[in-house]
Amino acid sequence: MKDASPQTIYLADYTPPAFLVGPVTLTFRLDPEKTRVISKIEFRPNPASQSDTFFLHGENLTLIRAAIDGQEVTPELSAQGLTCAVPDRPFTWEAEVEIAPAANTALEGLYMSNGMYCTQCEAEGFRKITYYPDRPDVMAPFTVRIEGREKIMLSNGNPAGRGDGWAEWHDPWPKPAYLFALVAGDLVNHPDRFTTKSGREVELNIWVRPGDEDKCAFGMEALKKSMTWDEETYGREYDLDVFNIVAVDDFNMGAMENKGLNIFNSSCVLASPETSTDANFERIEAIIAHEYFHNWTGNRITCRDWFQLCLKEGLTVFRDAQFTADMRSAPVKRIEDAIMLRGRQFREDNGPLAHPVRPDSFVEINNFYTATVYEKGAELIGMLKTLFGHDEYYKALDLYFQRHDGDAATIEDWLKVFEDATGRDLTQFKRWYEQAGTPRLSISDDFSNGTYTLTFKQETPPTPGQPQKDPRVIPIAVGLLNPNGDEVVPTTVLEMTQAEQSFAFDGLASRPTPSILRDFSAPVILEHKTDNATRAFLLANDTDPFNRWQAGRDLVLDTLLRMIRQGDAPDSAYLDALHRLIRDDTQDPAFRALALGLPPQDELAQLIHDAGAVPDPQAIWEATETLKQARAEAFQDTATRLYAQYQVTDPYRPSAEQAAARRLANAALGIINRLDGGALAQRQFDGADNMTQQLAALSALISAGKGDAAVARFYDQWKHDRLVIDKWFAIQIQNAAPQDAAPRTKDLTQHPDFTIRNPNRFRSVLGALAGNSAGFHHASGAGYALLADQLVALDPVNPQTTARMCTAFETWARYDATRQAHARAALERILATPDLSRDTTEMVTRILG
Ligand code: ARG
Ligand code: ZN
Repeated sequence: MKDASPQTIYLADYTPPAFLVGPVTLTFRLDPEKTRVISKIEFRPNPASQSDTFFLHGENLTLIRAAIDGQEVTPELSAQGLTCAVPDRPFTWEAEVEIAPAANTALEGLYMSNGMYCTQCEAEGFRKITYYPDRPDVMAPFTVRIEGREKIMLSNGNPAGRGDGWAEWHDPWPKPAYLFALVAGDLVNHPDRFTTKSGREVELNIWVRPGDEDKCAFGMEALKKSMTWDEETYGREYDLDVFNIVAVDDFNMGAMENKGLNIFNSSCVLASPETSTDANFERIEAIIAHEYFHNWTGNRITCRDWFQLCLKEGLTVFRDAQFTADMRSAPVKRIEDAIMLRGRQFREDNGPLAHPVRPDSFVEINNFYTATVYEKGAELIGMLKTLFGHDEYYKALDLYFQRHDGDAATIEDWLKVFEDATGRDLTQFKRWYEQAGTPRLSISDDFSNGTYTLTFKQETPPTPGQPQKDPRVIPIAVGLLNPNGDEVVPTTVLEMTQAEQSFAFDGLASRPTPSILRDFSAPVILEHKTDNATRAFLLANDTDPFNRWQAGRDLVLDTLLRMIRQGDAPDSAYLDALHRLIRDDTQDPAFRALALGLPPQDELAQLIHDAGAVPDPQAIWEATETLKQARAEAFQDTATRLYAQYQVTDPYRPSAEQAAARRLANAALGIINRLDGGALAQRQFDGADNMTQQLAALSALISAGKGDAAVARFYDQWKHDRLVIDKWFAIQIQNAAPQDAAPRTKDLTQHPDFTIRNPNRFRSVLGALAGNSAGFHHASGAGYALLADQLVALDPVNPQTTARMCTAFETWARYDATRQAHARAALERILATPDLSRDTTEMVTRILG
């Protein structure tokens, strides 16, 4: 049922729950069309609440009967839930409802995926399962009985018995309803064991559809590594006898940390060398870690309300990034995260969807699972660690776990822990949680009498609803190099607290070259007007790997922007500096591959827009192509050597070392490919025995215009594997020229394997279009119109994924009048759709501004 007028919810309106919940007992009688859910819940009035209104959330439920202390009652029903007269003392609530999992295409609540029952309750899906106070500050232990014919029937916690046609589970840890999960189906497991540091024996399982058993081993290793890492790094141990992971094909997000029963999008857990790329392996390892780490930062300590989402997500993303840095290469992880943050979060922060890391209002909470809440949220934790240092950070975290275990906490609680542990005042730091927008940091410097002075100015442009911004505390990590390239001042964290502030370094023999914002010490935009000679110097000499990479990125941005604006030729100083770097075999191959990466075209558009001009996506694409061609001509011999030298001859392993070699070799392939008409790519495609090599070759063949046969062969080889076919759809669109992208996408939506029912498939096609910047923003408006058609079709099926995909339009106002008119028409058409979901209505309304 849809709301007539979507309501805005405000953080300021928070009130404690009127009733608290004791043990919860649920019985499920499974049936695809009519599942019965029988609940028995102990309620007691909350002394901390002024209200005595008994309200339970409930949506799309058929109420069969309800009783209080065994007496039938007739509650008052609405589209949002029910109210009922209740006694002014503890009482037992019982209800029986009917739901239809097979008809649930929104993939929220209890639904079916490939004949298997599964759930997704975060944020507010439990209310689609039964009547309940569906808010995270209501926590209770759950006992669950599942009745059905399924071979495997799982819920949270520990197994409590099973027999013919039933299984019972008991979760002793009080939890909010959003962490509830149920899975039932004919699944097979990849089992293992783990012994915690205090000796608890834990049974581990990854549950999959028959046929996928051989794709679980990597995920299981990642899980065990995560469990060990959290014990060693944060002193956090697992707290149940079993830990189950289930792979599900139809899933709106990546994965979900349900207590003891994590549910994963199959693309985020299933892995094999033949079907997964090196990047997939790295991502799977990180997501398994992320969900596992939530057991402490999310489950044992949860959020008081959904405005506090970053409390669990920012911290858990930060923890999974630390884990990846420890398992693989810390500089490579940091550079990849910065690329991601700039591509997604800076873009969000600079557009109509900008919101604080802790928002103060929302219409649909599912629209706030954003790069700002997650990735910028993680950056805030990183800044706290940078400001206070390793020891104080872990001291604060110990206090957090000790003080708040079992709580539904807030950002105020979190900051108070840091204040109490460190004795510092975090009033100003809190602005990072409250103010949207990315601070711009401009720099000037001065050298006289051996003293070098750096002066910084911070400024944050207005964002929707926040015209004025106050200065924030910014940790700026700085090092100084002398003219020989030696470091004369090692990394020092400057604590900027004012709008404008100077820092002096004395006793220097000559004017140093500064290396600023080392390791990307704050999520800010550096407006550093320096020259290319200095950038080349830093690329060659900086001791901070992040800033070495950044110097290379600044060089390529500079040449691309001059090519776009002035029609300049590619800068030879840039080409020389990059060539020197990639030829140098003492350098990490992963670092060289990263240095060969080009900035996303969308980021170039943003820079041009920020400088007050109107970006032309076609011109940006053309400049990028011209630069690629110039690099190919300049680097041909080096690329040929690197390609041969970095071939991996050992059997495939998804290790950081092998991945780095393949990454550099495939970057070399991309260079050679522009000159040999796809010959080398064809050889690699024909001989590939793993997906990393096969997909890199396929991508090269398509961009060389020689992809037709390989595209057909790839499909034939993989048509039985949904996850590989997702790659097949995406790669054809990612590599399409601007004018071909929308037509190609349209053709692919006619393919028999295209379906809007599966979010992965929808994203692999329409998400790929949105990611092809010059194609999606083509002046014809065909990209906008096609995406609008598909979103209008998807909205009644799956509002969450529709709303999320609307972000493709968030940059529309950057472009020229013709493109704007096309985009506006597409957005208005979506908005005018009868019965449009609350999710999509909110997103399109905000994007239109
Ligand atoms: N808590 C999950 C995670 O971070 C995300 C699930 C969100 N799902 C949703 N439908 N909003 O791993
Ligand atoms: Zn998470």
